[in-house]
Amino acid sequence: MNQSALDPAGDHAAIIYQLFDVFLGITGFFFFLVLLFLGWAIWRRDRDDDREQKLRVGVAGWAALITIGLSVLTLGSYFADRSLAFAGAGQKPLRIKMTAQQWWWEVEYQDDNPSKTVITANELHLPAGRPVEIELASDDVIHSLWIPNLAGKQDLIPGRTTDLALLPRQTGHFRAQCAEFCGLQHAHMALDILVETPARFATWYGRSLQPAPVPVTDEQKRGYAIVTGRHCAGCHAITGTPAFGTVGPDLTRIASRATLAAGELPNVRSWLERWIDEPQAIKPGSHMPRVPLDTDELHATSAYLETLR
Ligand code: CUA
Repeated sequence: MNQSALDPAGDHAAIIYQLFDVFLGITGFFFFLVLLFLGWAIWRRDRDDDREQKLRVGVAGWAALITIGLSVLTLGSYFADRSLAFAGAGQKPLRIKMTAQQWWWEVEYQDDNPSKTVITANELHLPAGRPVEIELASDDVIHSLWIPNLAGKQDLIPGRTTDLALLPRQTGHFRAQCAEFCGLQHAHMALDILVETPARFATWYGRSLQPAPVPVTDEQKRGYAIVTGRHCAGCHAITGTPAFGTVGPDLTRIASRATLAAGELPNVRSWLERWIDEPQAIKPGSHMPRVPLDTDELHATSAYLETLR
């Protein structure tokens, strides 16, 4: 999994990276020059030759160089800004609404046809080559969405919406992270970004529109009863079941996600059970309460949740 602004996989990140290179080159050049002059001044400090003439030439040359340097930075910024504004223009974007919560990400794929809305959490599946427009909101405090391989940071602010445009180019698995201190578990507020070929994305989208799979074995059925009939359903939703809470992440496809608890744990059975059993030990301060379950009930619950893919 990759999380690096120096390895762009999308147009916006590539434009910012080019601008970074320009700034690094120009400022590095001037830093080198300053050191050079400093060394030269120390070396020549005792010589007493025609200083005034040299000073005049030196200052004029220095001013000219600075003017050129600042002009390149200004023009570079201007053209980077224009390129960012026009990246992906003219293509119909994929529209997504993301809402930051303490401490996870709610993701809603929007469509003109409301029955084609897909809701998930802590992951973004994106088709390569298609522009994406994300509307950003927050339900509690200020967060910031940062997908370094695809774009710069954008804040999510309670009471107003902001937006972020992406144009992924390379398929791959990337990591994104909340980039604004938002409380105890700020460091554990990551999300998985999966850039896929358009065909794979369409497959994922089609599957996500289906209701959750029906439990088959007795253990899965017991788990279904626990998840939809007891405390879990008060906070979590599973499409096609009586669970429709909206406080926590949607669980309809939880087994297909790469990670649990907003990027904190690998999505394997042992961690799933520990997370359900001791949420406050794994993520202190999170809004996930401990649900009293005995060992059999815990196994049944994880057996059912594992069918949700
Ligand atoms: Cu959300 Cu930091």
